[in-house]
Amino acid sequence: MKKILYLFSSFCLLFISGCSSIDVLNPKGSQGNEQLSLIKLSIYIMMLVIIVVVALFIWFVYKYRARPGHQPFPRQENRNKKLEITWTVLPFILLFILAVPMVKSVFGEAQMDNSKAMKIKVTASEFWWKFEYPEKGVVTSQELHLPKDQRVVLELHSKDVIHSFWVPQLGGKQDLIPGRTNKLAITPEKIGTYQGKCAEFCGTGHSYMRFTVKVDSKQDYEKWLDHMKKDQSSGQKLSADETEGRKLFGKNCLSCHATSGLTGADKKGPNLTDFGDRDHVAGVLKNTPPNLKQWLKDPEKVKPGSHMPKPEGLSEHDYTALSHYLQTLKK
Ligand code: CUA
Repeated sequence: MKKILYLFSSFCLLFISGCSSIDVLNPKGSQGNEQLSLIKLSIYIMMLVIIVVVALFIWFVYKYRARPGHQPFPRQENRNKKLEITWTVLPFILLFILAVPMVKSVFGEAQMDNSKAMKIKVTASEFWWKFEYPEKGVVTSQELHLPKDQRVVLELHSKDVIHSFWVPQLGGKQDLIPGRTNKLAITPEKIGTYQGKCAEFCGTGHSYMRFTVKVDSKQDYEKWLDHMKKDQSSGQKLSADETEGRKLFGKNCLSCHATSGLTGADKKGPNLTDFGDRDHVAGVLKNTPPNLKQWLKDPEKVKPGSHMPKPEGLSEHDYTALSHYLQTLKK
């Protein structure tokens, strides 16, 4: 019996641990908090239903069990008005209890005043994220930086197919649809790093279409913005190795990737301005020089379906130099 229970719980855990680094029920933003309270309400109602159903089930199994001198089938009835009314009205009441706060929350959010909200344009492409700050003229990719306690309206666009923006700890999930602008408001309330991902199957690289949200204090956020406005590829003291990497970058990568976070300087591939400060390579691997090298050598192997071409004719040493140079792009 113990063994069966153990196997069963391991089996269940397998499903619970499915989204490893994504924390779903631990909100750090006002919308996330509201959603969690709605989820809790629906769980309590469902628990009540389950308890009643299981109790009735056990009672019936006992009452109508086969035993000598007892008819196992209950008397068949044609109509029972009382019962019919009960099982029609009860679910209606339960749904009503669930629906009122839910509708209130959805419409309340839609009617919020967005005049003081910060606007950020989010563009999803196969299989990466671009974040533009139009009021600041700054652009970045894969890591969204936000100041604490500031309401943000994300304007969601897609370059190709339908994607879905999802950072459960900050709240909400919203589709990005080609040719249409969807909006999603979030208000982060705690400084920290939160994981997000694309939540709509969008192609081969879908499960690797991850991103990070970094919530900072107002001052740190402003510092980050200032840093993004500087060109990271010049004015730095680089080692011989890194200088060689910079040359290789200019020759092989600069046509697609910008190293300045200014909107006007952006290119078609992910912006790499603060690459050295990022947690991940391509949203998938931990950002270390060996992992970066692995990505540069064979992007398709790390992130299937990505449109990143393999640089041609580079030696082992070239890849090392390139990965060292990219790590210098930071504050
Ligand atoms: Cu983009 Cu799934």
